[in-house]
Amino acid sequence: MVKICCLGAGYVGGPTMAVIAYKCPEIEVVVVDISTARIDAWNSDRLPIYEPGLDDVVEGCRGRNLFFSTDIEKHVADSDIIFVSVNTPTKTRGLGAGKAADLTYWESAARMIADVSKSDKIVVEKSTVPVKTAEAIEKILTHNSKGVNFQILSNPEFLAEGTAIADLFSPDRVLIGGRETVEGRKAVETLKSVYANWVPEDRIITTNLWSAELSKLAANAFLAQRISSVNAMSALCEATGANISEVAYAVGKDSRIGSKFLNASVGFGGSCFQKDILNLIYICECNGLTEVSDYWKQVIKINDYQKSRFVNRIVSSMFNTVSGKKIAVLGFAFKKDTGDTRETPAIDVCKGLIGDRAQINIYDPQVTEDQIQRDLAMNKFDWDHPLHLQPMSPTAVKQVRVCWDVYEATKDAHGVCILTEWDEFKKLDFQKIYNNMQKPAFVFDGRNVVDAEKLRKIGFIVYMIGKPLDAWLKDIPAVV
Ligand code: NAD
Ligand code: UDX
Repeated sequence: MVKICCLGAGYVGGPTMAVIAYKCPEIEVVVVDISTARIDAWNSDRLPIYEPGLDDVVEGCRGRNLFFSTDIEKHVADSDIIFVSVNTPTKTRGLGAGKAADLTYWESAARMIADVSKSDKIVVEKSTVPVKTAEAIEKILTHNSKGVNFQILSNPEFLAEGTAIADLFSPDRVLIGGRETVEGRKAVETLKSVYANWVPEDRIITTNLWSAELSKLAANAFLAQRISSVNAMSALCEATGANISEVAYAVGKDSRIGSKFLNASVGFGGSCFQKDILNLIYICECNGLTEVSDYWKQVIKINDYQKSRFVNRIVSSMFNTVSGKKIAVLGFAFKKDTGDTRETPAIDVCKGLIGDRAQINIYDPQVTEDQIQRDLAMNKFDWDHPLHLQPMSPTAVKQVRVCWDVYEATKDAHGVCILTEWDEFKKLDFQKIYNNMQKPAFVFDGRNVVDAEKLRKIGFIVYMIGKPLDAWLKDIPAVV
């Protein structure tokens, strides 16, 4: 029986390994983590992450051939294939701070693997890492290997949160990069045979190590660039009376461009896009490619611009101040169908409103009060560290109240901001919300989910990203 061990029981390690175990009953999969709380949660009825379909997959194989453990060294020593899916945060200090990937957790995992291994292993990079990381990892592993043979593979993960199980069951592609040697090719074939249990062979791409590592950064950069492109257009739509939905539809109908991933929004969030583009920028700079790094920097600049443009729109519409006004924030997660708040645009929007002294009522169906308070108090990039190393619950931000119901959050509010596209927001009773709000009542829809005409008929002043502006908003000079 092939034995797999995965270091890191997070958003990637947990679902990915659960699907491997589910699809390959003859393989034993053990997911290990340095966070006891996380492992306990994986072994409980309340999994540590919310992901549609995940509960059923875990239930189908936990205790059969899927296990979660904190006994890291034992399971690493026993396994044939080790996936490493640990955090690769943006460095906050020293050389490359604010851009380069911090490989502390990866390096310590590699040193531990080298120390405890007594038999040959395939070590798989599942975390997103800078191109050429495998070379450094190889040095660590072979330096202290006592005759053990290690093969390093790059197998980046392309799942998106909220659709992780569907993405893993039916991936567009699985990418495996390895050394172009006899042993390297053999290791690639071994990993390929694991995925071949459910992924059609023509969707399993094999490349050299560096292409696989770089393809992951490139894919995220391309995806984020599409969003910044459509968001840049949304600002121009608002200035000219064009409608971003119509523009995106017309543009996306070109089969060379395609229709997906062209939804204008308050900005992209999530743990990957910004971090991976910063990482790409740093690699370009290190290689003397200033023009290339400047190109990718602009994707992040437009994303930051989109978030501050949204805050400015709220403040300028409400007589240029939100001081003491109550704003209901609907949605805090970085996208629907996840409780994940890493780099969510809601953090920057809420901080902007708090900076102008608004009172904020936040409602999200999946995010806890503790998480929201922690996010609003945390410094940039501090979130991407193992949970037990993150700052403990800080003093609550006084201007923020977390509510468990939309109607409670919007009661007596001057304005409503929609920051996550949860399906339930499309079905709200806006007449009831309007009746209980201060007047004039505003809706700022950062996800273009509401029926603006219907809301306007009720009496709301409505702002949608990239859509023709209400007369009220048109009369106010755009603050950008
Ligand atoms: P995460 O923070 O949810 O999980 C990482 C886990 O690794 C944590 O539970 C942490 O405690 C654990 N860990 C850290 N050091 C360890 C060690 N030495 N031994 C054992 N466990 C250790 O992060 P994630 O979202 O799962 O991301 C992991 C990697 O995958 C990152 O490189 C990320 O860029 C990449 N990735 C993430 C996504 C995504 O959607 N979240 C998608 C593709 C790739
Ligand atoms: C992304 C990549 O899609 C995935 O392949 C990679 O493995 C990890 O990073 P994720 O961050 O989980 O996945 O979600 P994604 O669906 O890509 O959304 C990222 C952000 O972009 C969200 O805040 C989302 O709301 C926003 N977005 C997405 C838009 O604003 N407009 C769109 O058209 C699509």
